[in-house]
Amino acid sequence: MAVIIDGKLLAKKIRADLKVECDELKKEGITPKLAVIMVGDNPASKVYVRNKSRACNEVGIEYQEYLLDGKISQEELLDLIKTLNKDKTINGILLQSPIPEHLNINEAFKTITYLKDVDGFTPSSVGKLCIGEDTFVSCTPLGIIKMFEEYNIDLNGKDVVILGRSNIVGRPLIQCCLQKNATVTICHSKTKNIEEHTKRADVIISAIGKPKFVTADMVKDGVVIIDVGINRDKNGKLVGDVDFDNVEKKASYITPVPGGVGPMTIAMLMNNVIKATKEQYKEKSIL
Ligand code: GUN
Repeated sequence: MAVIIDGKLLAKKIRADLKVECDELKKEGITPKLAVIMVGDNPASKVYVRNKSRACNEVGIEYQEYLLDGKISQEELLDLIKTLNKDKTINGILLQSPIPEHLNINEAFKTITYLKDVDGFTPSSVGKLCIGEDTFVSCTPLGIIKMFEEYNIDLNGKDVVILGRSNIVGRPLIQCCLQKNATVTICHSKTKNIEEHTKRADVIISAIGKPKFVTADMVKDGVVIIDVGINRDKNGKLVGDVDFDNVEKKASYITPVPGGVGPMTIAMLMNNVIKATKEQYKEKSIL
């Protein structure tokens, strides 16, 4: 039987600590503020964005939402980002993905100033992460690393297998795990024999969005399982990428869905907004 990694509880603790930091900033007359841009009306994005606004409210971060019509032009989107870059009252900018296909999301991310890049998606943030400099780290990978630290899961010399190579999760996770001295393998849709990799993994981090993809016969005894998937099964129930009930019997640690990685992602967004605010006002005094 595995230890269940309680992301919900850890995220609550982190939000409480961040509230203290936020209150201290407010005493100095600084109120951190996050701008969230959503284009079109993707139902899943609406849920994520609502959860982000609730977390801001709890921590004391001001929250401003920009709901843009799905038919907006690239230029209009970039203009909004440029305006927010210059706005001294805004400390963090988040463009919720996905956005409609006629728009170029990478160009949009690239337009966000590094100083307000609370998602860690700009080339500057990604580059700094790759060379081991302090930077904004994408919230899901950062949340996963915090869970390892909280549960004393040491990655030093461990075989970590990541399923999924997205810019949001898989790719930044490679760097985060490398920094912890893990040996990292990344599997994706063209990987020949995924089982060959998962069976020898000390740690599996799955972010592929396929319900119950990781089954008990694919993992070794004592494996650590981090499930980033948020999927609906045939009955509409929220499930991860991992067949939790069966894999849990072999694992040493496992994250549940819901209540695992999801709340940690949002807590790390709050962390990054506070970090951005402090850097803008205190260390660099750019605003
Ligand atoms: N869509 C799904 N996850 C994320 C995220 O972490 N940040 C943004 N901006 N969009 C997302």
